[in-house]
Order: sequence, then C-alpha cells, then structure tokens
Amino acid sequence: MCGIVGYTGPREAAAILLGGLRRLEYRGYDSAGLATVEGGRLHLRKRMGRVSELEDLLARRPARGGCGISHTRWATHGPATDANAHPHAGGRAGMVGLAVVHNGVIENHARLRAELMAEGFPFASETDSEVIAHLIARALETTHDLLEAVVTILPRLEGTYGLAVCSASHPGLIVGARMGSPLVIGVGDGEHLLASDAAAVAPHTKRVVYLEDGEVASLTPAGLDLAHRERGPVAPRIDRIDWHPDQAELGGNPHYMIKEIREQPTTVVDACRGRLSRRDATACLGGLNLSPRALRRARRIVLVGCGTSWHAALVGEYLIERIAHLPVEVEYAGEFRYRNAPLDDRTLVFILSQSGETADALGALREAKRRGHPTLAIVNTVGSTIAREATGGIYLHAGQEVGVASTKAFAAQVAVLTLLALYLGRLRHLSFSDGLAIVEALESAPGLIEEALKVEPIVERAAEQVATARTALFLGRDLLHPVALEGALKLTEISYIPAHGYPTAEMKHGPIALVDPQTPCVFLSARSPLYSKTLSSIEEVRARGGHVITIGTDGDRVLPALSDTFLPIPDAPEVILPLLAVIPLQLLAYHVALKLGRDIDKPRNLAKSVTVE
Ligand code: F6R
Repeated sequence: MCGIVGYTGPREAAAILLGGLRRLEYRGYDSAGLATVEGGRLHLRKRMGRVSELEDLLARRPARGGCGISHTRWATHGPATDANAHPHAGGRAGMVGLAVVHNGVIENHARLRAELMAEGFPFASETDSEVIAHLIARALETTHDLLEAVVTILPRLEGTYGLAVCSASHPGLIVGARMGSPLVIGVGDGEHLLASDAAAVAPHTKRVVYLEDGEVASLTPAGLDLAHRERGPVAPRIDRIDWHPDQAELGGNPHYMIKEIREQPTTVVDACRGRLSRRDATACLGGLNLSPRALRRARRIVLVGCGTSWHAALVGEYLIERIAHLPVEVEYAGEFRYRNAPLDDRTLVFILSQSGETADALGALREAKRRGHPTLAIVNTVGSTIAREATGGIYLHAGQEVGVASTKAFAAQVAVLTLLALYLGRLRHLSFSDGLAIVEALESAPGLIEEALKVEPIVERAAEQVATARTALFLGRDLLHPVALEGALKLTEISYIPAHGYPTAEMKHGPIALVDPQTPCVFLSARSPLYSKTLSSIEEVRARGGHVITIGTDGDRVLPALSDTFLPIPDAPEVILPLLAVIPLQLLAYHVALKLGRDIDKPRNLAKSVTVE
C-alpha cells in the first residue's frame, strides 16, 4: 500500500528517496513521485507506473536539493494517473510553494475541496489528499511557519493520515504528522529520514523513532523535534532496528515469494527459538504479560485477523480446542470491529497480523481495548502499531516478508499458535507426556519442512495443467481445512485463477457442481482418522471425470492410485501437518503464476500492508 520516504541532510535527496521507494515497492503501488527543495525552489516530479519510470523522468529532468519527500501511491480516490500521483502541490494559482505526500483517507475531503475551491485554490487531481496541501498553503499565508501551519490544519482532517510536507520557503525542513497511518523517523549523523516503513530507512541508520497517533515531527539535518498536537512537546524515544536490510535481498532466488517459501524451515526455528521447554513439556511465552493464573481463568479465546492471518487463526482454533480444550472463535477483523461480539472478562482476544499495520486488525484491537479487554497481538513487524498498542503478545520473528503473498509469516503464525495451544494446555489438563510429544513435534518440524520442499519438481509439472484451468477447488478436513482455504487464496491472488477452498465434506453441498475434467480438485489428506472419508470424496470427483491432485503422506499407496498427481509430504505428527501440507500449495500457486507470466511479488491490485479500511 502507499509508501512515504523523506530525507533532509547533506546528500542529494532524490537518490536516497528513490532507494527508499524501491524498498517499499513490495507493499504494492501504481504511481510514484517526489518533491525536493533546492535553495528557494521546489522541484516536483511524478509518474504513473513503477519507480523505474520516475527514475527515467528524473534522468531527463533532475530534481536537486538535500531535502525532499516522496511517495508510492496505491489508488483509492481517483485512478492511477500522473496527476493523482503524490506529492501534491499546495498554493494559489502560480504560487505553488509546498508539497505534501499522504497515506490514509481523508473522509471529509469533498467538503474541504469545495471550501478551498471557493477561495481560488486550484485542484489538479481527483484525490482526497490534495486538500491537505492547499489547507497548509492557506494556513502558511498567515503563520509563515510550516510547522505551525501543519499543526493548525490537522484538526480539520477527518480520517487517517501519515503525511510529510516540505516547502520552498523552509529549505531543509520536513514536517511529518501521524493519525492512524504509520510513520517512523530515521535518526542519522547530520541527517534525518522519515518513512512509513522502517525498511526504507534501514540502509541509512538503525536508530528510529516511531511516531504515535497525534504526534507531529519537524526534521532538519541537525534537529528532530517531536510534539503531540494537543499535549505539547514529546521526548523522542529512540528504538533500534534489529534486522539487516540485506535480509530482504533475493539471495539468488528469482522472486521473494519462492525465497520466502524456501526459508520456512528457518522461520519455524526462529519462531520457536527459546520458547520450548523439554523440562516442563511446555512453551515459554513471557511477552503475554498475563500471569499463569489469569491465563488459566480464561474460558474462551477469540482470534482475529484478515486474509492469510485469518487462515492461520483457523488452524489455531483447531489446535487450541484440541490441545487446550478451550472454545475458540475466529473473527474477520473487518467484521469484528463493528459487530457487537459478546466478550466477557474471561475471554482473551488475540489479534494476528504479519505487518502489524492492517487497518482492520488495528481497528479490532482498539475496539477490544476500548471495551477494557487485555489485547494480545501475534505480530511479525517489531515496533508496528499493533505491536505497540497491544497489552502483550508474541512476535513471529519471521524477518521481513517482502512477497505480497504471505507464506513464511503463515508458517510462523501456525508455529506460534501451536506454542500457544501447548502453553494453555499445560496450564490446564494436558499431561507431561502429551506436552512433550508436542514439543518434539515442533522440534522436528524444520527438518520435515525441508523434506516437504523436495516436492517442488512434481509441483512444477502439475502446475502445467492447473495453469490452463478456469477455476480450482481446494478441499481439506480438520486441521487441513484452513490449509485448503490458504491454498485457494494463494492461487487466486497471484495467478488470478479463481479458486475456492472448502472443508471436504462441504463439497457435495454445492461446489461439486464445478467438477469437470478442466477443474483441478486439490485434496489434502494426510493420515488421520478422517482419511477414509476423504477417499470417498475423491471417488465422487473421479466418478464425474474430475482432475484430482492429492497431497498425502509419503509412502501412501492408495492416494497415488486415485490421483492424476500425488504430492507427497513427510509422515509427521498431526499437530504439525498444517506446516507441511501448505508447502505444496504455496509452490503450486507460485509455479502456476510463473507459467502464466504473472507479476508474482506484486500481484495486481494487492498491497502488502492494507492500511486503509
Ligand atoms: C495473502 C495476504 C493477505 C494478508 C492480509 C492480512 O497472501 O498476504 O491476505 O494476510 O492482508 O495482513 P496482515 O497479516 O499483515 O494483517
């Protein structure tokens, strides 16, 4: 989704801004632009399309200066065009002197636009963001101080914003403000950066300050001032980024998605590191900030997330109910935040989010918090808004996930939910030996995922036919039901082949109407008490001439005989089957998209971090 990068310091801003935008490309965008201040002049360059197109424009029309702001836009108000790209210039006709970049949505933009147009401010775009530029320009006519002008107009904005402003009349100064859309300051030596994602500042400095809602920052090469717009000055709290930007390099892989699929053995090691206790046959989850007594009192768990995180939560439901015997409900964050879901004081609410910035997930967290509930986060991005606002939680430690299609974060979420189920189980009735079996299963998972990844050549062949399909079905039972849903989502989002995931038993209640020789039906069926029931469902598809792909345990003699393609995964304890069964599905989506020539790491219309509702 939209990205912001700003720089003020002794170096040429444009090169640093372009480098920063490249680091944010993974988030998804459809236009890019920048503005720099050189002496008393403002240079504005913007282009629909990729950052490389902006770079071409800058090669022809350079934008010099040591201070500037830049943006990648993911269209919301108005299509992707040069005019709608940010930055937006503010000022009366012929008097443009400042530029603004904005993430978020200004809900009262139409009213503000009408008011500004009546006063003669010219509008060049269809965006909601342009009103901010003109509001600041109008305030600057009386205050003559950029920081004061920004602070003056913020109360007029209804909605969400992370914004950055620079002005020809204030060389070297960038003003940033946050309400509901993340901003982070990079603190360098004699220079400062401002970005919507720490990934953009990481190559320049490890020292960062995360802005909170309501805070306004003013940055010059030498100075950083932070204030809350109502409460006054704030002492900046400097955090350190603990990952290296090189972690986000491709390392010889053609795409981030395949790199991240292949990283999953390490992902699970990192998610479980220091969290497994053989001595007590349990998990150690210190960050929950709830006493064992408070956790034992819990009578119900609510897991909230979106997309892949929601699928991981569904795996969590099966695991926690089975291992800890606690009732679990899984909620879509976008529904939960507005639904009057009954929560009592013995309900624990967990918010799952890879990015920690998803607007719906954040809204759900705030709603639970507003009602006085402790809110627990299962989040990957350290320092993200959800991580900071939650009362406690568990980090995934999966490292930066760049591919828009989430893969390794799913594995980390499932591993962490298994740890949580084990921990809650051992606080209650789960025996030492049953707990130890889960500890051992998790310890064996990385090696087994490594084994599972060897299926890739068979998947590649299966992808040939799936790539020609108009639709596909993914079916699984029990713990593999959410994995089937995840397989369908992965295929849909990166190959654009509409795929549907169902619990296998639901097939005969409707989806079976899709079965024909051109429709791949992907069955997940490792050894479990429900194995024979899945065999019957496969027979039903075969009887109708369907194309059958099965995922089952290596050494299974029955499934290959019933399948057009059999994709083996290693024999493993049931609790870690989701971590293994998802591997062929992620690989299938990847290879189908590759064969179809899709933009795998940046699928159309999608964004890595969905920071608008
Ligand atoms: C799918 C995908 C999305 C995200 C969803 C939630 O591959 O990546 O469905 O899972 O947008 O994002 P987070 O987990 O960052 O809250």
